[in-house]
Amino acid sequence: MKNDVQALIGAQWGDEGKGRVVDVLAREADVVVRYQGGANAGHTVIVGGKKHVFHLLPSGMLYPNRLCVVGNGVVLDPEQFISEVNGLDPAPEKIGTRLVVSGGAHVVMPYHKRLDVLSEQARAAKPHGSAIGTTGRGIGSCYVDKYNRIGIRVEDLVRPEILENKLRMNVEEKSLILEKIYGEPGLNFGELYEKALGWGRFMAPYIGDSSIEIDSAAKNGKKILFEGAQGTLLDVDHGTYPFVTSSSCVSGGCCTGGTLSPGRFDRVIGVVKAYCTRVGEGPFPTEDHGVIGERLREKGDEYGVTTGRPRRCGWLDIVALNYAARINGLGVIALTKLDVLSGFDELKVCTEYETDGRRSDVFPNSAYVLEGVAPVYESFPSWREDISKCRTFDELPAAARDYIGFIEKSTGVPVGLIGVGPGREDTIFRNF
Ligand code: IMP
Repeated sequence: MKNDVQALIGAQWGDEGKGRVVDVLAREADVVVRYQGGANAGHTVIVGGKKHVFHLLPSGMLYPNRLCVVGNGVVLDPEQFISEVNGLDPAPEKIGTRLVVSGGAHVVMPYHKRLDVLSEQARAAKPHGSAIGTTGRGIGSCYVDKYNRIGIRVEDLVRPEILENKLRMNVEEKSLILEKIYGEPGLNFGELYEKALGWGRFMAPYIGDSSIEIDSAAKNGKKILFEGAQGTLLDVDHGTYPFVTSSSCVSGGCCTGGTLSPGRFDRVIGVVKAYCTRVGEGPFPTEDHGVIGERLREKGDEYGVTTGRPRRCGWLDIVALNYAARINGLGVIALTKLDVLSGFDELKVCTEYETDGRRSDVFPNSAYVLEGVAPVYESFPSWREDISKCRTFDELPAAARDYIGFIEKSTGVPVGLIGVGPGREDTIFRNF
C-alpha cells in the first residue's frame, strides 16, 4: 500500500509530540504542509542534542531539499514568521529547502493579540463568563475577521492600496472596540501600515499559490506530509466547544486549509501521547490532581512550549481516543512518550465513562456532558526498565508491549511508531 500523501493529526488535546514525529517522518517527505492554527502551536524538535522550537514554520524546515508550505488555513503572525525564518541556521536557501506561504493565509495583526487577551480577561472576570485559557496569540480574533470577511491576507501585504483600505477599516472598527468596550487607547493607522509594508517586503519572496505547489507535487508522486497543530479535542467543530481553538485541527482541515482533495490522501496518522495532557480550561475526564498527575508532569516535562504553563496531566483515555479515531479516520497511531510511563507502580487506562451510575464508551458531543462524567479505569502492570535504548518492538518489556496491544485492541488501529525518548533516534518503527 502506498503512503505518499499523509495527514498527521493530534488525537488528543494537543502537545502529543507531533513536531517530533513530523521531524522523523519528514526525512522521507518531499513536501511538508502546515494547514491550520498559528503561533499558538509549539513544535519542539531535538536534533543532535539541540532544541528547535517552531511556532509557525513546518517542522520539515530542518531538512535539506524540502518544499515547506504554510497553507491558507493558517493564521500567520508576521513578526513570529520573520523571527523563525531569520533564526534558521543554515538558511533554507543554503540547504535547498523552499518555503512557500499561501497568499490566502490570514495575517495576525498586533490588535488581534490585544483583543484576544482583553476578551479572555473579560470572560474570566464575568460571573457568567468562562475563560478558555487561550495562548494570547490572537488566534480567535484573527479567525473572527477571516469569517467576517474583513481579514487582511498575506497577499494584501504586497498590495499597498488594498492593504491601506482594509487596514483603515479595521483600525476604525478595532479602535472603537478597544475604546468603547475595553476602555483602552485606540490604534495608530500610520504605525501599523508602515509595519505591515515592512512585513510584506520581507515576505514577498515566499508568497505563492500553495494549492498549485501541492497539486503538482501530488501529481508527480512526491511524498507529502500534512502537519497538524493542536489536536482533535481542540478542534472548533469536534472539540470540547467552547474550550477549543478556532481552527479545524482534524484530518478534514487538511483539505480546506492545505488545499488537497480528500481522495488524494493515502493515510491519516494519529499522534497519541501514552497518557493525556491538556493546557487551558475545559473538561478533562482523566485529569489527576494528585501525585500521579504531578509525576507525569515532571517526568514528561509537561510545560507549554508557547506559554510555559504547566499542563494538566492524567491517564490515557481510550473513550476520547476512539472518538478521535472515528472523526479523523485514523489509519495508524504514532504513540509518543512511552518512556515516561516507566517506573510507575501500575498504569491505568480509562475505558468507559460513568454518569449517574450508567456506563458508556461513547464520547459525548457536548463539553457540558463531558464535564459530568467519571472515568472508569482498567489497571495494567508497569515496567521498571529504562526503555529509551529499545529500537525494536520486541526489545520492549512485556508490560509495555501489552500496553500497546491494549491500545490497538481497543481502537482497532495499529500502533506503527513508538517514541521512547526525546531525540530523533529514540523511535521504534513497527510495520509503519
Ligand atoms: P488559542 O488557540 O490560543 O485561542 O487557545 C484556545 C485553547 O487551545 C486554549 O485552551 C489553549 O491552551 C489551547 N491550545 C492552543 N494551542 C495549543 C497547542 O499547541 N497545544 C495545546 N493546547 C493549545
